[in-house]
Amino acid sequence: MHHIFHQPQFGEDWFTYPEVYQQMVNRFPSGSKFVEIGSWKGKSSAFMCVEIANSGKQIDFFCIDTFEGSVEHQNNPELPYLYNIFKNNMKPLEGYYEDMRMPSMEAVQKFENESLDFVFIDGSHEYEDIKDDIISWLPKVKRGGVLAGHDYYLPPQPTSWGLRNSSILNDINYYYNTNKGNAYKAVKETLGVEDRKSTRLNSSHLKLSRMPSSA
Ligand SMILES: C[S@@+](CC[C@H](N)C(=O)[O-])C[C@H]1O[C@@H](n2cnc3c(N)ncnc32)[C@H](O)[C@@H]1O
Repeated sequence: MHHIFHQPQFGEDWFTYPEVYQQMVNRFPSGSKFVEIGSWKGKSSAFMCVEIANSGKQIDFFCIDTFEGSVEHQNNPELPYLYNIFKNNMKPLEGYYEDMRMPSMEAVQKFENESLDFVFIDGSHEYEDIKDDIISWLPKVKRGGVLAGHDYYLPPQPTSWGLRNSSILNDINYYYNTNKGNAYKAVKETLGVEDRKSTRLNSSHLKLSRMPSSA
């Protein structure tokens, strides 16, 4: 199946992390469960669906979004149509995803603890919301699973952060630049990790007390 995420109907170019999604599909076996928080018009979601389809693996993929936009989108004239735009864009990929049209904090309650292999946070970019997302979704990630997110740093190099929920190094790279996003502060405060110039995150930086599955 060919990728469609670059087609114009998918809109804004916020999806800077295809390699993260690719790595996750390669890493996890059939039967895995993935969650994306923040799907907008489906650009990142469509990429993930095609990667899953082409892998031949049975991976359940949940797209969580209020489809009401984030704080910074409230003047966007397309907001009232966002859900329809998403659904239309994702039509060729039906069967490869399930959308959950609700706030992240409501969706999280629908998942069992330690039931998810990969959770990617790209929803609200408000500092308190990112913290809530990290704290609430982390217990849902299986041991050996990955919790990651976007906008750790802001443009010109928007980058992703990621941690593997185990004692092994994760392999999501992220790069040094000085334009730190709210996610940077939220990751530091909740997980106790901080970037040190182009290094990889090492789970020895984790505040393990925050990770029930590692207890
Ligand atoms: C930056 S966009 C996602 C972009 C998308 N991942 C992409 O690469 O194209 C953020 C999305 O998060 C959604 N959102 C914001 N706050 C949310 C919340 N509390 N719960 C669920 N979704 C939320 C917004 O509706 C918006 O569609």
